[in-house]
Amino acid sequence: MIELKNVCKSFILGGEEIKALDNVNLSVKKGEFVSVIGPSGSGKSTLMNILGLLDVVDKGEYVLDNVVIKDAKDNTLSEIRNKKIGFIFQNFNLLPKLNALENVQVPLMYRGLKNDESKKIARKYLEKVGLGAREKHLPNQLSGGQQQRVAIARAIAGNPEIILADEPTGALDSKTSNELMELFENLNQEGQTIILITHDINVAKRAKRIVRIADGKLYEGEVV
Ligand SMILES: Nc1ncnc2c1ncn2[C@@H]1O[C@H](COP(=O)(O)OP(=O)(O)OP(=O)(O)O)[C@@H](O)[C@H]1O
Ligand SMILES: [Mg+2]
Repeated sequence: MIELKNVCKSFILGGEEIKALDNVNLSVKKGEFVSVIGPSGSGKSTLMNILGLLDVVDKGEYVLDNVVIKDAKDNTLSEIRNKKIGFIFQNFNLLPKLNALENVQVPLMYRGLKNDESKKIARKYLEKVGLGAREKHLPNQLSGGQQQRVAIARAIAGNPEIILADEPTGALDSKTSNELMELFENLNQEGQTIILITHDINVAKRAKRIVRIADGKLYEGEVV
């Protein structure tokens, strides 16, 4: 379903070219659980942003469920983003003026659900991530790990086919991190495709497949 072919992505900063992704090939089938490991600055978030249609490739091709992303219209892209993909950002990206419950409701409202209906679903997912008692809190009234969990609830509440998670356990203690990995494992067993970025090899090992990024190049497997 996900196919990257010879993908390159560079950033120019101060006249210097940074190759964030260097000729990356990756295919992920429906229902796979893949973790991506690699050092800071190796290109992990860049990869995720491209997979999540938040950024575009310079060279090469991204094909998602037979749609050539480069050629797709804006409304096709936003529909795919809204219906198919649940994105968990490395920096959470919660809306600061909305409370936890409302943050989880946002993508559901975009899908056309009524307020009451979306509230019910949002509440269920906040409970799933252990934050039922915090629904009225604004992001700045939550700890980093709690904000991370709201972001996770928001990403999975719409039951997306693909979950893209950029360091979802980065801000969590080991117990909460373990619980969230169990949640991801359950979602994967129900058929969701999951791509998860992590620095933590023990987190990575819980996925069925590991890919590694170093200096913008992608390799299959955990070791050199
Ligand atoms: N918008 C940008 N402008 C310039 N350079 C960028 C930009 N985004 C990323 N880069 C550079 O591209 C490289 C890859 O960045 P990326 O964010 O993908 O790394 P990462 O693997 O996610 O790192 P981390 O583990 O620290 O989150 C880095 O060298 C980074 O400085
Ligand atoms: Mg990153």
